[in-house]
Amino acid sequence: MAEQKATNVFWHDGEIKQADRERLNGHRGVCIWFTGLSGSGKSTIAREVEKLLFERGYHAYVLDGDNIRHGLNKDLGFSPEDRTENIRRIGEVAKLFVDAGFIVMSAFISPYRKDRDGVRQLMKDGEFIEVYVKCDLEVCEARDPKGLYKKARAGIIPEFTGISAPYEEPVKPELVIDTAADDNVYRNAMKVIQYLEENGYFQVPQDREEVAAQEG
Ligand code: ADX
Repeated sequence: MAEQKATNVFWHDGEIKQADRERLNGHRGVCIWFTGLSGSGKSTIAREVEKLLFERGYHAYVLDGDNIRHGLNKDLGFSPEDRTENIRRIGEVAKLFVDAGFIVMSAFISPYRKDRDGVRQLMKDGEFIEVYVKCDLEVCEARDPKGLYKKARAGIIPEFTGISAPYEEPVKPELVIDTAADDNVYRNAMKVIQYLEENGYFQVPQDREEVAAQEG
């Protein structure tokens, strides 16, 4: 992971804490990290979850690989080092969103286990939900929504994940969504919503006065 380069910089906490923002928002701040091959359905599911959460009045936001690579990470390519830096930066951005009390979703291939684990370590327990969007390479290749697998097979795109660059499957993801077995977007998005529901992410800390009154 990146070294601290700047000296004479000091961490400064504000008076408003994450729990205060969560109370205001009506849900916990959490990062839902989608990982999987290109064409597996990460962005599509993340967008659907975003929509469903938004309709409930929740604060949700998707950080999408292709989009972030147009801005924040436009200086990065697809070498192993650049992918690691890509994920490190997104991890830091996601952490800020969690601190702001958002349900932030990231849709990046994030092919390396150690990079994903690095992001997990940035967050507190329960704040990082790894969702493996599982899909056989053959199915992704048959979908080929951007025509990239074809180009990768033809040798036009080097270091393409699944073809000429590795993808390391998650070992213990919180959730696995197999889009080769079922590609219904709504049903798959609901699996994420259900996970959030069952694990208390839509419950917020009580307000300070209530807690004080209970404590007597
Ligand atoms: S990651 O590996 O660094 O996590 P990221 O999710 O940001 O990748 O970007 C992946 C997207 O970039 C793919 O969906 C695809 O559209 C595009 N892309 C372009 N070149 C490559 C490549 N060599 N390998 C994988 N994806 C690529």
